[in-house]
Amino acid sequence: MKALGIRAGEIGAQLIDAASPSDVGDNQVLLKTLYTGICGTDRGITSGQLKFARPQAGSDFLIMGHEGLAKVQKVGRMVKTIEEGEIVVPMVRRPGNCLQCRIGRQDNCDDGDFVEAGIRGKDGFMREYFLDEERFLVRVNGNSIGRLAVLTEPLKNVVKSFDVYRTVSRRSIAQCDDGSFDCRRVTVAGGGPIGILFAMIFKSYGFDVQLFDRNDHLGKLDRISKRLGIGFKISEGTGLPPDLMEGFDVFVDTTGSPSVIGKGLEGLAHNGRMILFGTSTGGSYPLTGDAIISLIEKNVTIMGTVDGSKSHYIEALTYLSSWKEMFPGALEDMITQEAAPQDSIAALNTKVPGEIKRVIKWS
Ligand code: BGC
Ligand code: ZN
Repeated sequence: MKALGIRAGEIGAQLIDAASPSDVGDNQVLLKTLYTGICGTDRGITSGQLKFARPQAGSDFLIMGHEGLAKVQKVGRMVKTIEEGEIVVPMVRRPGNCLQCRIGRQDNCDDGDFVEAGIRGKDGFMREYFLDEERFLVRVNGNSIGRLAVLTEPLKNVVKSFDVYRTVSRRSIAQCDDGSFDCRRVTVAGGGPIGILFAMIFKSYGFDVQLFDRNDHLGKLDRISKRLGIGFKISEGTGLPPDLMEGFDVFVDTTGSPSVIGKGLEGLAHNGRMILFGTSTGGSYPLTGDAIISLIEKNVTIMGTVDGSKSHYIEALTYLSSWKEMFPGALEDMITQEAAPQDSIAALNTKVPGEIKRVIKWS
């Protein structure tokens, strides 16, 4: 069967002929892949920049793909909650032995001893078939969102961040004087899929959202922003757009750029909250003593968040079906390219201008 991935120590994605899964164990589920999404993490792996990427133990080839959507082909004798023919989203991170991992919160792992399908230590979903365990599969059920369900995996990261945001926000009242959030400004840096999903979640709770990016090839971000009813601005270089320099209550960074984050921190209002999600490898920005005093005096909260738990995947599915109605056309607009596995090798290595979410269609 076809599989896409990377050979240890080499750069660039490859299409290989991998062994098809053998018999389905008692607790296992055989899955046929429908779609996989491509994201920045995948490009970090194919370019060799993501240092923690590694193949499964005993293999020198990592089958990539952590954003998946699959159809159940066959279930083992002991499988209780999943039936043949169902559509599921497989989870990325698989637990180790720490306390967090043992309670299903491997997204908050205490010691880093976990594996991630398609990223580190475990083969992923960019292959025609795979076997998985019932407990790592999230059922899409009678949901009518179709291929949009491939956005469940990236969205679960955002749902977890929003959960963390609400937990730490209890330190001071975030509501406006009428009980809503519409006086609260949220600035989102970066118009990739994650930035857009952050804009959607905050907008759906009534926040005043502004998104910015360095460019907008083909006017896609401007169009999506209009569909969401949020503001969109273009920034120069590694700065913030001139009219978006300060006064925001929440700053969400999806770029990983130290200078964007540094300037975002400087522009946060009193009781401001900073969400760090994006990762990048280069750059630096000075943290001065005066800046530290300002963070303290303003009661600023900075939160870094990664991955999400099974409940965040489930909530993500609920958001997707409600956003389909709430923001007509916006989610559909995010999937900008769809191609067969053999035509997706170049796409795994580089992003094309105007691309938001590229998906591979497996069957
Ligand atoms: C995935 C997360 C994962 C992270 C780091 C992201 O692309 O969505 O589930 O934890 O990469 O490997
Ligand atoms: Zn991803």
